[in-house]
Amino acid sequence: MTGLFAGKVAIVTGAASGIGRASAQALARGGARVIGGDRATGTANEWRADLGGEGLLRPLDVTDNAAWLDAVAEARVRFGGLHILVHCAGAVRLAKHPQEPDVVSETVWRHMHAVNLDSLMLGVRAVIPAMREAGRGSIIAVSSLAGLRGRASSSAYASAKAAILQYVKTVAKQTGEQGWPIRCNAVVPGPINTPMMGSPGLAGGPHDPWVGEVPLGRYGAPEEVAAAIAFLASDEASYITGAGLPVDGGVSAAVAT
Ligand SMILES: NC(=O)c1ccc[n+]([C@@H]2O[C@H](COP(=O)([O-])OP(=O)(O)OC[C@H]3O[C@@H](n4cnc5c(N)ncnc54)[C@H](O)[C@@H]3O)[C@@H](O)[C@H]2O)c1
Repeated sequence: MTGLFAGKVAIVTGAASGIGRASAQALARGGARVIGGDRATGTANEWRADLGGEGLLRPLDVTDNAAWLDAVAEARVRFGGLHILVHCAGAVRLAKHPQEPDVVSETVWRHMHAVNLDSLMLGVRAVIPAMREAGRGSIIAVSSLAGLRGRASSSAYASAKAAILQYVKTVAKQTGEQGWPIRCNAVVPGPINTPMMGSPGLAGGPHDPWVGEVPLGRYGAPEEVAAAIAFLASDEASYITGAGLPVDGGVSAAVAT
């Protein structure tokens, strides 16, 4: 990836942890200057030391429109523009709130859609003007296998993640048809070994029911999703827009889409 992102500026959300953190590192190591945004920024110094390139971790609550505008303004002022948005911030559950359709509360339903889906709309709306100005843009959203198939225990999450796949097609269509130099895609991860899937070491172990569903027989690493994100962010993917790229060890090979 060395030099692939030279001269590029990226915003990565959910950057403090998991897939977001690995994506920030992949882009920075390829030469991008990276603004990492997250609700949790307690590890900002360590984050910066591990980045492997130029960048910073700053507060960004992705449900807050003003915070998005602020982050885009920082990209312009500090680094001179914006070319890449990787939107990884997301949440799979709200503690103690069930999501089964017969009991799901409006609170958890709205929260799941606000964090996972509405945030993408806010982000896309905020970055399009800056990317048009920069003359090149790539937006990558993070959907989920949960968005391709039914799972009662994550109905609200699944709904939001399914809508992401539809939304990126719409963005791709508008930007393409308008002649704006912006591509928009999603990755669709399967089970990935991050804090979201439980304590490292337990998730993906021999008693984890997920593992038996994965043709490759294991959880993915955040770096494996980051590699797909970096590809979509790069000019190597210049003819790909509106796509949802599975990064799931083959699980979706058995899912009707
Ligand atoms: N881990 C998996 O198996 C898996 C599978 C499919 C999809 N995903 C998706 O991948 C993305 C990244 O998840 P991860 O596995 O790296 O989890 P993670 O828990 O390691 O990271 C998620 C990050 O998002 C941040 N975040 C949460 N709400 C936020 C908000 N309102 N504003 C800003 N930041 C916020 C958290 O602080 C955290 O740093 C999520 O969208 C998730 O739904 C993960």
